[in-house]
Amino acid sequence: MPARCRAEAVTPCKSFDLAAYLEKSASAVNRALDAFLPKATVKPVTIHRAMRYSLFAGGKRMRPALCLAAAEACGGRRAEAMPLACAVECIHTYSLIHDDLPAMDNDDLRRGKPTNHKVFGEGIAVLAGDALLTQAFEIAAQCRGWPCYSHRDIVLELARASGSLQLVGGQVADLEAEGKSISKSQLRYIHERKTSALLCCSVRLGGMSANCTPRQLVALTDFGYHVGLAFQVIDDILDVTQTSQQLGKTAGKDTAVQKATYPAIVGLDRSRRIAAELTQLAFEALAPFRGRAQALEAIAQYVLRRDR
Ligand code: FPP
Ligand code: MG
Repeated sequence: MPARCRAEAVTPCKSFDLAAYLEKSASAVNRALDAFLPKATVKPVTIHRAMRYSLFAGGKRMRPALCLAAAEACGGRRAEAMPLACAVECIHTYSLIHDDLPAMDNDDLRRGKPTNHKVFGEGIAVLAGDALLTQAFEIAAQCRGWPCYSHRDIVLELARASGSLQLVGGQVADLEAEGKSISKSQLRYIHERKTSALLCCSVRLGGMSANCTPRQLVALTDFGYHVGLAFQVIDDILDVTQTSQQLGKTAGKDTAVQKATYPAIVGLDRSRRIAAELTQLAFEALAPFRGRAQALEAIAQYVLRRDR
């Protein structure tokens, strides 16, 4: 890994073909998810069709890519990390289905398609989310346990990231903040939980699947935390700068419902600087890998520069 790739947060690393890497990892993840999930013809077919509808609707597969890249940075094999990469994507997709429900953000468009409840109705959408969350644990249980990280550690990791102290807690705080004026630190609290926790968990699980050292796990945690925060700041920015067609979800929604976001609180320019600073901190966290975390670095750059 050339030093300049680490030092210059906003300069893409030319020696790493991220597009090819992401395409390859997304194809592998799609094949694995297809194999892990009950077929759409399995009874009751409605639920399996609904689960698959959202899971294969065209998500970017960033969390699985982070999980696989973290495993590789620790010298692990992609196959060992795959169940965990699929598990986090199931949890992510469940959260999007529920987030889009009329009782929450009430959205009609997600991943470029009508939302789950628009196609299957609210009852099935709730159940499809529930089933994907449960499916995640079933898939994760199929990973290999290691001397350093048992199945118990893996289940705890997933449960903690998705429970009431993290993902669900962040969503609660996000809903409660709607229409209110909140401080930057309250917004950070929401972002840490609703977005960063699952991204960080993805990276940590990748490391665990490779039986990483405690020092590597600390570095991955630091990296995942900062990339996760940058991801949500960029998400907030894209909501006001992109179109619905570009995003595959309703643009401008945050402003319409008076959601607390970085652009709303500190403005667009400052938000962009904050995202770049967070990405720089993520890069610095990778120092112990001494250039063996090329994919993670490239993904962090992509997160900062993404346009959807
Ligand atoms: C977009 O991810 C999603 C986020 C930035 C996370 C937002 C957080 C929630 C919706 C929390 C919801 C929680 C509950 C419990 C309902 P992405 O751009 O990677 O989406 P993609 O996978 O479609 O590409
Ligand atoms: Mg929401």
